[in-house]
Amino acid sequence: MKIIIDTDPGQDDAVAILAALASPELEVLGITAVAGNVPLDLTQKNARIVCELAGRTDIPVFAGARQPLKRPLVTAEHVHGRTGLDGPDLPDPTMPLQEQHAVDFIIETLRREPSGSVTLVPIGPLTNIAMALMKAPDIAPKIARIVLMGGAYFEVGNITPAAEFNIYVDPEAAQLVFHAGAPITVLPLDVTHKAMVTGKRNDVFRALGTPVGRAVAEMTDFYERFDKEKYGSDGAPLHDPCTIAWLLKPELFTGREINVEVECDSDLTRGMTVADWWSITDRPANALFIGDLDAQGFFDLLTDRLGRL
Ligand code: BDR
Ligand code: CA
Repeated sequence: MKIIIDTDPGQDDAVAILAALASPELEVLGITAVAGNVPLDLTQKNARIVCELAGRTDIPVFAGARQPLKRPLVTAEHVHGRTGLDGPDLPDPTMPLQEQHAVDFIIETLRREPSGSVTLVPIGPLTNIAMALMKAPDIAPKIARIVLMGGAYFEVGNITPAAEFNIYVDPEAAQLVFHAGAPITVLPLDVTHKAMVTGKRNDVFRALGTPVGRAVAEMTDFYERFDKEKYGSDGAPLHDPCTIAWLLKPELFTGREINVEVECDSDLTRGMTVADWWSITDRPANALFIGDLDAQGFFDLLTDRLGRL
């Protein structure tokens, strides 16, 4: 399966990228960076650091949007650290950043490849994907599926009481993507908060004994301190790798085809995903909204894939 990962690394983005690069079922055509957890100059750099960690300097990395469609950028250094990838001591990348803009790469790839053969995997704010759809509406019917991490339903928000970070940062982009007409799978906080890397599970990554295993363990050590201090939880949720796990083993997840709309106007609930889980409205379904996962199966899959690098 051909995929493009659109990302704002982010420790959990990094683990998602590593898992994808380790999986022979997935052909990563390119990685497109977007501003999100940290500004674009850092996310594109981090994406290249992660490719080099995986030994995959052949993966083209593109820089995309510096800021959301209509709003100033909100970042999350309080979770991910100043660099976005705090934790391990990884060298600066030597592989080049591609000159082409990420949005143009997405458009060109979808136009070039056979219709229905390319899946988009956005694991940051949806700015690049929305910009591509606005600039080239002809690509929408060519997208095999959009498999995104974002939103929340029962689990409410993590950046405000109502909103999940990726959707909150660029709600207009998210609303546009939900109405693009492409098949969509949503991995919301309801699921990703069950994908917890506890201390014991992180020790399993460390015990892989490889540079990748060690780096992932150190990323998680850093990243989980926020959840430990804030919520008193054991471990941290690996949000973004849930997208890759869904692509590899959808049987680990359960969900429903429902309607999802994004609140763009209210100051109080901006970025809230209004997910009609109980079909209360007659608005047509526009997304497969995932509600649950087999956490141990997810962790075993991730360990297996990281162990291959
Ligand atoms: C999402 O926000 C980011 O901080 C993470 O990388 C993830 O994509 C979780 O809300
Ligand atoms: Ca992310």
